[in-house]
Amino acid sequence: MNKSKFVIEGLGRKKALSGTIAVRGAKNAILKALAASILFEDEVEFKNVPEIEDVRRMRELLVGLKQNPELHRDIAERLRASIVLTGPVLARYGEVTFPFPGGCVLGERPIDLFLDGYRAMGAEIVENDGLFIIKGKLRGAHIFFPFVSVTATETLMLAATLAEGRTILENAAMEPEIDSLAGYLNTCGAHIDGAGTPTLKIEGGGILRANGRPYITPPDRIETGSFLILAALAGHDVKIVDCEPKHSAALLSLLARAGIKFEIGESSISLRQGLTLPQAVSVRTHEYPGFPTDLQATMAVFLTQAEGEATILETIFDGRFRYAEDLARMGADIEVLNPHKVRIRGPRALSAQELEGPDLRAGLAYILAATVAEGTSVVNNAYIIDRGYLAIEERLSKLGLNIKREQI
Ligand code: EPZ
Repeated sequence: MNKSKFVIEGLGRKKALSGTIAVRGAKNAILKALAASILFEDEVEFKNVPEIEDVRRMRELLVGLKQNPELHRDIAERLRASIVLTGPVLARYGEVTFPFPGGCVLGERPIDLFLDGYRAMGAEIVENDGLFIIKGKLRGAHIFFPFVSVTATETLMLAATLAEGRTILENAAMEPEIDSLAGYLNTCGAHIDGAGTPTLKIEGGGILRANGRPYITPPDRIETGSFLILAALAGHDVKIVDCEPKHSAALLSLLARAGIKFEIGESSISLRQGLTLPQAVSVRTHEYPGFPTDLQATMAVFLTQAEGEATILETIFDGRFRYAEDLARMGADIEVLNPHKVRIRGPRALSAQELEGPDLRAGLAYILAATVAEGTSVVNNAYIIDRGYLAIEERLSKLGLNIKREQI
């Protein structure tokens, strides 16, 4: 692995960024669509693919699966999305072997919903030496998820596509990436009803055929949201293009409440800043269409620069405030009240620091914090940011930010 870091010259309170920034295809859509290619008899073409590290890892896993239905252990242990492959592999080949999936450390990330789902669909599970071995010919089942889970919804939806009979998934996740995938699979012979609602009905059937129809990766709504927050913090005239504004509704409503002015186009959002300070707004993360947990850290940076006191209530994960200490070191007034709640008082001037993001999304939040800080910050471990954001330094440079990648 090529080790590098970002060096960022902070702007302090200057609203200096301007220009246009394009949003790339969604990481959490393409990873699942790549996994779904197992359900196809023919080749699937993917468009608008971000060439990020996680996509490379998923491709490597797919190549490995050509030999046998077993996920490459080292890779799967580093990529949470690897679990999504288990559904299509089991449904197609009648067996799959995989380790407990890794990924960003955000607190507990169990896989009980997946295992319960496979059992309900008639599979048998053996755990041996840290590996799960699942076998069986899948049949449709009625599954009620006790918690809403994005990847469990996607994985069981994919498994059900080739299972025998009808599957009903209740209390399913409604993220737009699920809708995008189901829509594509339906054009290729699947029968998935209700994607984008809490109840999915899937009539299992035969193997899918793309017949030359490509999967077009939808724009990344987390990237869109991060750019919006960056523009609100440090931009005076920034246009975000190639995005889907309606997928950012929760964030836009909070930014509007904070006093940020923006204009929404069909696939663009423009921010024009006045000189007034944004007002603090409290945030509660929620499954889509609520405020995404993946924007929680970036929103915390925003709140360090807003006038007043606000709290962030993190309802999805129980270990997602690991960034708080670093922001405090930079001068933020931030206090972790409990594993689900932080309080932030602003505005506070931030000073440059050497930082290292505890996870992908917090890594990007550190780039934002470094942008509004006084002085030159270093954000170590660029790899964790490269997992989800394509050439971020090149794209942010075009807005006028002095950010450079340096090899270590
Ligand atoms: C997806 O993770 C995303 N990852 C995450 O993005 C995102 O933060 C998360 O959804 C929430 O939106 C991918 O799509 C690859 P969950 P996922 O299962 O599916 C509990 C990023 O940076 N749960 O919806 O793993 C779980 O512990 C990443 O791009 C169980 O209890 O999240 C959590 O509290 C980070 N049992 C809650 O459900 C299970 O079997 C929701 O997590 C599964 C999950």
